[in-house]
Order: sequence, then C-alpha cells, then structure tokens
Amino acid sequence: MPHSTTSPITVHKLAKPEGSTIDFGAEIRGADLENVTEADFDVIRTALYENNVILFKNQQNLPPKAQYELTRLFDPAASSYGHGKTLDAKRSILHPDLKTIPHQPQVQVIGNGPVASFEGLENITLKHPHHKTFHKEPISVEDDRENTRFYRWHMDAALYHLEPPKVTSLMAVKVPKTEFQTLRYDDGSNDRLSVSRGSTAFVSSFKMFDLLSDEDKEFARTTKVQYAPHPYIWMSPARSRPDGLGMISDGLELDYPSLPPIEEEKIKILPMCWKNPVTGQLALQVHPSAVQKLHLADGTIMDDLEQVREIVHRMQRPGIAPELVLGIDWEEGDMAMFNNHGVLHTVTGSFLPEEVRIFRQCNMAASEPVLGPET
Ligand SMILES: [Fe+2]
Repeated sequence: MPHSTTSPITVHKLAKPEGSTIDFGAEIRGADLENVTEADFDVIRTALYENNVILFKNQQNLPPKAQYELTRLFDPAASSYGHGKTLDAKRSILHPDLKTIPHQPQVQVIGNGPVASFEGLENITLKHPHHKTFHKEPISVEDDRENTRFYRWHMDAALYHLEPPKVTSLMAVKVPKTEFQTLRYDDGSNDRLSVSRGSTAFVSSFKMFDLLSDEDKEFARTTKVQYAPHPYIWMSPARSRPDGLGMISDGLELDYPSLPPIEEEKIKILPMCWKNPVTGQLALQVHPSAVQKLHLADGTIMDDLEQVREIVHRMQRPGIAPELVLGIDWEEGDMAMFNNHGVLHTVTGSFLPEEVRIFRQCNMAASEPVLGPET
C-alpha cells in the first residue's frame, strides 16, 4: 500500500429520513478505491467501525478484484469466501441467491432477472429472494407489488466451521428504479416503514444491546450462542416469523441424520455480544434463524428450541423498530461496506421476473474468532 500521512477522504453522516433515530451510517467522499494509501485506509477503517455502514458513491468502474482487495484490507490474513464452498449444497437455503464470479471467487453476484453476460458468467438468471419462500405466512398475491417484508435478518456467516467475516462489501451495479413499497412487520404491532423497492435494510446491533434492560445486558454479556450444524440446510424446511427475525418453531428443522456429516469441533458456539474493535461498544450479535442452543453463565445449556428462539426474539425485536432501520435507496455505482460483527441486515422487496438488478457482494471468512465481551 502506498504510504502517505494525509488523506483527502472525508466522512459525512447519512441524512436521516423523517422520524428516524438511527445513529449509524456515513457516506465516504474523496476515496480512490483502486489506490488506497495507508492513511486512506486508516480513515476508511475508523469510519467503518464508528459508523458501521459506510457508502461510497459512483464506484461502477471498480473491478471485482479491487472490491476484493479493499474488503480484504480489513482482515489481511483472510482469503476465502465467507461461506466457503457450502453454497454448493443444493439443499442450502442460500444456494439459489448467490452466483460466484469465476475469476474472483470471493465475489458473488446477486440480483434479479436475465443477464446475458457479466464478469465471466454467461446467460444467467438471477432471482431476488422473495419472502414467500421463507416466511410462514407471506403477503397475499394481490398486496405483493405494493407491500413487502424484511426477508431474513442476518449477519453474513457460515456459522459452521468458518469464522464470521469482519466486513462485507455490496455494490449496486444495475438497479431498476421503481416506486417505494410499504414494508409491513405483520407481527401484531402495526409497525411499517416506507422503503425503496429492493432496499437493503440495516439495524445496529449496538443499539439493540443498549435497548436491553440491565438484567438482559448481563444475560447477553455472559451467554453463548450455539448455532445448528450446517444451519442453512438444517433450517431449510422451517419457516420464518413475519418480521424476518427468526423462525417459527413447528418442529420442521432437519434431524441430524438428514444433514451432511457433522464434525463436533466445527459446531460454532459464539458469544452473544461482540465487541467493536475501535469503539469498544458491545453489539447484541445473534443470527436469529440459525440459533439452536444457549449456554448460560452457570453452565446450563438451554436446548428447548422454542424457548431459545423466544428469548432471542424478545431481546432483538426492539432493535428493529421502524425508526431504527436504515433502508438503503440504492443508486447504480453505490458500494456499501458494513461491520458484519455490529449490524444485522436483510433484503426487502420483490421484483418482476424481467426486472434486472445486479449486485456484487464480497466477504471473507475471518482469520480469527469474533471479539467477545471479555476481550
Ligand atoms: Fe447478507
């Protein structure tokens, strides 16, 4: 990396929509992302960890390799895609959503519609994930064009064998501009939110932690979360709550003999709170649909799945209130980078089969375990 002591890069808080109380998100201006100096990266890294979601405009000419290299600067010892090769498993719920760029396998193409040629992928059809394939009770067909849901709140992580990626980059290459939709929670709360069609929604897991009672904060600091083995196959027959924040317990998860072989040492037991390496703040960082068991401070293992999910949902739900959600209104050339250890995100929206949307996503399995509250 070229050495320079000063950087022309500046950081600007994102404008808040009316009624919003979000305290994260910033636009970064003046960056040349193909020639990042040490001083530039200092500014970018600090901005990312202080704002948790950062946005660079007009990056449509940035090649996939440069996207990969920039993403990797956050974890230079990392090199392989965050899900490894697990996406190849046809039964994984992630399988239909991601296509790998042949010459840059850490970068995936996601989106919607028919694409004749893109970065070495020929005649592909992309499919925007629609909540009807994941939620137990989807929005009715007649309401579907005007209304949407949070598809699935998550951090990007295999949660089996591989460590959760530190940072994800997401670039909007092609965006069909259409009207806004009403995002409905449909959980009895009457909560709703206006989002641009196909908006990616983010919430701060630091805010989620801060909203907890003192008792819950203590519980969060001292509890560990065990994730199901091969979680995206395990949960594949199960269905989500309408707010996209975890699963409904109908006993549909696959039993162990139906999963690929399970290696005990690859099962992930992670802290419930992850620490921001720059600010020291704690995030309540749980993948709500992959969680299986809780390991409590006194050594008890809570393995009643329904009870585990109820606890996690009760703790997380206040953090996705409408005024706390950042919904990105994508423009072509936007590249977002986010602290994958400090925010949850989800797809929203639905597209017609012929509406073409192309995004490039990059992250890498981290080279080290997540920072827990005691580190
Ligand atoms: Fe994601």
